Amino acid sequence: MKKIAIFASGSGSNAQNIIEYFAQKPVAQVELILTNRSDAYVLNRAESFNIPAYIFTRDELYNSTLILQLLAKHNIDLIVLAGFLWLVPDNLLKTYPNRIVNIHPALLPQYGGKGMYGARVHEAVIANQEKFSGITIHYINERYDEGDAIFQAKCEVMPNDTPDSLAERVHALEYEHFPRVIDEILASY
Ligand code: GAR
Repeated sequence: MKKIAIFASGSGSNAQNIIEYFAQKPVAQVELILTNRSDAYVLNRAESFNIPAYIFTRDELYNSTLILQLLAKHNIDLIVLAGFLWLVPDNLLKTYPNRIVNIHPALLPQYGGKGMYGARVHEAVIANQEKFSGITIHYINERYDEGDAIFQAKCEVMPNDTPDSLAERVHALEYEHFPRVIDEILASY
């Protein structure tokens, strides 16, 4: 059984979707949830699925080996960033080469980079009157949203879209594809 750790800073709807997918397909399981926010709704989701959760500070992530120790203790095979907004430090990148994946709610390399997350991405896509948006699942490197792409899927941007309506369409793509792509990555190890 492969083991997944999910890092999330917010609602965690993708985290829940991944938890539920692997509950039905026990080749892997979500072993651990990590967050930098004590008020993140993902913590409620972790609790309701009885998955251990850990809240960490900036200092713990960037200036200690605490997170590495935690991941090692849980024998984590793959780290999944699902709405996690901080850069991943070097010690994690080195310990988990090609084993940290992120989902971004747009078609990278467009609409990525520092500060580009959640609603801000959709606002920018609509402001630029793009015809398409979508999702990018990619490996993580030391820069925001620049690691190698693994998978992209597109959706239309409608003329009357709001950031919320576009987010809903993009979320649907995330729910459809993210667990499946994680499954494929784990199968290749
Ligand atoms: C998702 O749409 C994800 O693509 C995005 O945050 C949302 C989290 O939703 N990530 C980024 O913008 C990363 N730059 P969730 O907490 O409901 O899964």
